[in-house]
Amino acid sequence: MSGWAEAFASVPRHLFVPRFYRQDGTGAWQPLTGTDPAYPEAVYSNTALTTQLDEHGVPTSSSSQPSIMLAMLESLDVSESNRILELGTGTGYNAALLCHRLGDANVTSIDINPGLVETAARHLRQAGFNPTLAIRDGAEGYPDNGPYQRIISTVGLHTIPRPLLQQTAPDAVIVAPLGYGIVRATVTAPGHATGRFLATPAHFMARRTGGAGPRFDAALEQSPTVTGVPPADLLSRLRFPASVALPGYTSCSWRGEDGELDAVGLWTPDGSTAIAHTSGTVRQTGPRRLWDTIEDLAKIFGDEPERDAFLLTITPTTQTVFYENEDGPNWVLPAMP
Ligand SMILES: C[S@@+](CC[C@H](N)C(=O)[O-])C[C@H]1O[C@@H](n2cnc3c(N)ncnc32)[C@H](O)[C@@H]1O
Repeated sequence: MSGWAEAFASVPRHLFVPRFYRQDGTGAWQPLTGTDPAYPEAVYSNTALTTQLDEHGVPTSSSSQPSIMLAMLESLDVSESNRILELGTGTGYNAALLCHRLGDANVTSIDINPGLVETAARHLRQAGFNPTLAIRDGAEGYPDNGPYQRIISTVGLHTIPRPLLQQTAPDAVIVAPLGYGIVRATVTAPGHATGRFLATPAHFMARRTGGAGPRFDAALEQSPTVTGVPPADLLSRLRFPASVALPGYTSCSWRGEDGELDAVGLWTPDGSTAIAHTSGTVRQTGPRRLWDTIEDLAKIFGDEPERDAFLLTITPTTQTVFYENEDGPNWVLPAMP
């Protein structure tokens, strides 16, 4: 049994997720707790479990899918003496796995939500663990306990926040969800890091930063143009490349009564918005013409590309994702997280 498989076998997930929410047939969220007959199997299923919803019913915290947690933990390639920083404490379950393997003194975990940190601290203590926990925006890191040999983010990022790089030890490994993928970068010199994406598809809850919402009304007022790219491609083969080329984009879809796709919408935190209809018409508004980028991607990627064909290179001034190699198509990530 690998070190992480042994950690999963030893640390009980139910201690950290005494209650979670599942959607019923109507899409409404229903709580599930230990007294529910379905709970024991559900809490140990290989699925992400939603543990917190905002006032609109949008999930704001979850216990991630165990197979993806395992893939990320394996890719950290830890040795037992490594000091590690986790972004996104959530339920504390991943922090507990880290403590089990590396010891309390080596583990620091931060989350922006005070209530979650408090509950996670309680559950961690009940499970016999006592890492450093702090209420903090993940982008700031936690310099007091650095330098870290390993950093793992369980919150979705658009770019690797610069302060984290400053808190790494030489040769440190950073594993983080970036768009619809997970990148594993090794620090090569102060301020420099490079590495490939894992093959595993993944999408984590985005780091809360408060960008603009969609501007569908403004988009609908624009004159239409015509596209040859089927809107469904944004939801399938182009999903990952779009998340690299348009960091922080969100998409939605509209379907007819027959369930068939009518249109997709996409927007980025700067307020740019596009609506692409299956009839081939596109309307766009805002500082960037998002669908033009989707058309450029469609020319590069005939099929869904493998995520591990993408490479992230970080220098003190830029972060760039390359396809295949440093001579290939590339996209510069935003300077600020
Ligand atoms: C997928 S959950 C983390 C799962 C967690 N590692 C576990 O084992 O349960 C993502 C977490 O990121 C947190 N988060 C969102 N924005 C953040 C930010 N700016 N900084 C730190 N944490 C953030 C959320 O509060 C949420 O708990």
